Amino acid sequence: MNFSVKRVCCIGAGYVGGPTMAVMSLKCPDILINIVDVNQERIDAWNSDDLSKLPIFEPGLDDIVKKTRGRNLFFSTRIKESIENADMIFISVNTPTKKKGLGAGKASDLKWVEACAREVAKYSKGDTVVVEKSTLPVRTAEVIQKILYSSARKSGEEIKSFKVLSNPEFLAEGTAINDLLNPDRVLIGGDDEQSMLSLKEIYKEWVPEDKILLTNIWSSELAKLTSNAFLAQRISSINSISAICEVTGADIREVSRAIGKDSRIGSKFLDSGPGFGGSCFKKDILNLVYLADYFGLKEVANFWESVVEINSWHQNRIAKIVVNKLFGTVSNKKLVILGFAFKANTNDTRESAAINICKNLLEEGANLIIHDPKVTSSQIETDLHKRPINLLGIENSDLKEKSGEWCHIDTIDNIDIFDNAHAVIILTEWDEFKHINWNSIALKMDPPAWVFDARSIVKPKKVLDAGFSLWRLGDGFEDEKNIL
Ligand code: UDX
Ligand code: ADP
Repeated sequence: MNFSVKRVCCIGAGYVGGPTMAVMSLKCPDILINIVDVNQERIDAWNSDDLSKLPIFEPGLDDIVKKTRGRNLFFSTRIKESIENADMIFISVNTPTKKKGLGAGKASDLKWVEACAREVAKYSKGDTVVVEKSTLPVRTAEVIQKILYSSARKSGEEIKSFKVLSNPEFLAEGTAINDLLNPDRVLIGGDDEQSMLSLKEIYKEWVPEDKILLTNIWSSELAKLTSNAFLAQRISSINSISAICEVTGADIREVSRAIGKDSRIGSKFLDSGPGFGGSCFKKDILNLVYLADYFGLKEVANFWESVVEINSWHQNRIAKIVVNKLFGTVSNKKLVILGFAFKANTNDTRESAAINICKNLLEEGANLIIHDPKVTSSQIETDLHKRPINLLGIENSDLKEKSGEWCHIDTIDNIDIFDNAHAVIILTEWDEFKHINWNSIALKMDPPAWVFDARSIVKPKKVLDAGFSLWRLGDGFEDEKNIL
């Protein structure tokens, strides 16, 4: 008989833990959910009365938090107490790629997961089901299991028992709430039928049963890495073809549409862009590469590593194109960057293509005015490792003395920010960039003014009619259209 879960603890109040538990609290009002985190500031933000101050921006999340916070959803730093009282514990802490030591640059750093496992081992009482929610390398469940079992043995408390499950999260940022409410599938990996069925009972509250797949634990872990690797591979594939389009006269949008009609290929994830970002794709592929290397599968490792290599090449390629089009130099030139998040509808900048592209342009001496509707100046400063200066407050003649500086602007409503700029570079597909009035902006800029659209969101005719030169990713006819 499976048991019915009454009290859940989720360790880690981040992009995965926060939205996942919010949806669970909405759909399972009888389950008490405590989300705990070591980061007091983050917890305070989750508890903020002002719902626009939640630590992550995710459409629809604020509405759910409003309904369930204080009812059956609680955010706190009371880790010990929440673990003690829970009969199911989700681990959703960060697992970034290791920066140093064995496996540096490829393997995930599991120190936060290990710390959690030790806390669970120490504080839990009775029978506890531990669920891996973070994306983890294959066989991490084994590590968690070993820590839990050995700690329980050491403490001599034979009444403690643990079952470890893998339940990877497939939500994408920006659409997390919909992805959680209507998942393509829910994967539950494990070897203990009872605990697997208990977790299944939770999901059955809102997910059709045929979408809940039960597998062994290793398949579940590997399926998560493989899903992300396949998706990233599609993006690297289409981006590599965009480079061919540019030299042959083909158009990547037409190529994508044509191949997407093949039902075996499908139309999703075929938008060429500035290169994939986000916290998962690169990390998960590198985990796969590490795993393949570890088991002596060199060719397999090389195959997947090339997906990441093409992605970095592609990002550098875009910065080089900007420099080349602006007569081989961007030094002292003012460039307006639109979009810094790794994709629209999120404030997350992890692995965003904009970071590399902006760094390359700053290195070339450009002065960047950066706008993203949701990314803060301090986040950009962290990503670029460089302090901003107030580029807008200085005279144009003085601006020309500046080189490799940047500043952040909250809004592009005041078109004075485009004064004497040489180019506008679109790196994130925010809706607001679709409605820009190019005519008024063109008048402000230094001719020949350029628009570089790495997201295919502008209407070429509108930009060209306004007098801009336009470069679009994967547009082989671009030279014929430019008005120079
Ligand atoms: C991804 C997976 O989609 C999700 O299932 C997993 O749980 C976590 O990783 P996420 O990183 O939030 O989600 O974003 P996603 O929408 O997958 O986009 C990843 C990157 O690929 C973004 O930089 C996006 O701009 C880029 N992308 C996506 C493209 O360049 N073209 C596309 O057609 C789709
Ligand atoms: P993800 O995208 O996987 O959700 P985030 O970095 O957004 O990753 O969130 C992970 C959260 O886990 C962070 O808020 C971090 O403070 C928290 N965390 C890390 N280690 C622990 C721990 N041992 N106990 C509690 N919280 C932790």
